[in-house]
Amino acid sequence: MDLDQLARDLGELDFVPGTASAVENGRRLARCRRILEVKLCFEARRGAVAGLEHIRHPAAVARRVMEKTPHVLLIGEGAMWFAIQQGFPLEMPYTVEAIQGWYEKHPDNKKKDGKQPTSLTIDEQNHDTVTVLTRDTKGHLGGVCTTSGLAFKMPGRVGDSPIIGGGLYVDDEVGAAGATGVGEEIIRIGGSAFLIEQLRAGKTP
Ligand code: GLY
Repeated sequence: MDLDQLARDLGELDFVPGTASAVENGRRLARCRRILEVKLCFEARRGAVAGLEHIRHPAAVARRVMEKTPHVLLIGEGAMWFAIQQGFPLEMPYTVEAIQGWYEKHPDNKKKDGKQPTSLTIDEQNHDTVTVLTRDTKGHLGGVCTTSGLAFKMPGRVGDSPIIGGGLYVDDEVGAAGATGVGEEIIRIGGSAFLIEQLRAGKTP
């Protein structure tokens, strides 16, 4: 699978359906937001976006960051303006069902002691990261990690997916690794890069 195929196929994965999965505290509809994060690596070139809203295929934007800018990671409004500049249309993906589901599952509706939840949970209702690793016909490695992140996170929270060495790491000489799960745990140990360094040191998967 080459980079074109990777980016094309991941268009399907970018737009993970389901509940509005990134939210702020508070109950205003306007605050029920879907925020997308993605990182794309290919032959040690890297591009990523975080906190990007209203774009259907963030992997394609991450690719443009990699190919068209001197940068590695664009976030939030800047990432959105870059996407618009690159010809990506803005979309409004929130459905009535998603917003209703968000209200029903929001921790504020469940907490009994009035305290803010301090731990993050990934379960059947709250998970949506996808990582794909590839090797093309010439043996070059690539990968993409895309998510809308944990539900009920704080505004501004970035998960592991767009962080180099967190949710994805590709080293053309050694291997490729990607992660799903609670991003904080993965970022804390530089999860994907750590695994690749273990391979470089001679360990086996
Ligand atoms: N692994 C996805 C996230 O923590 O947002």
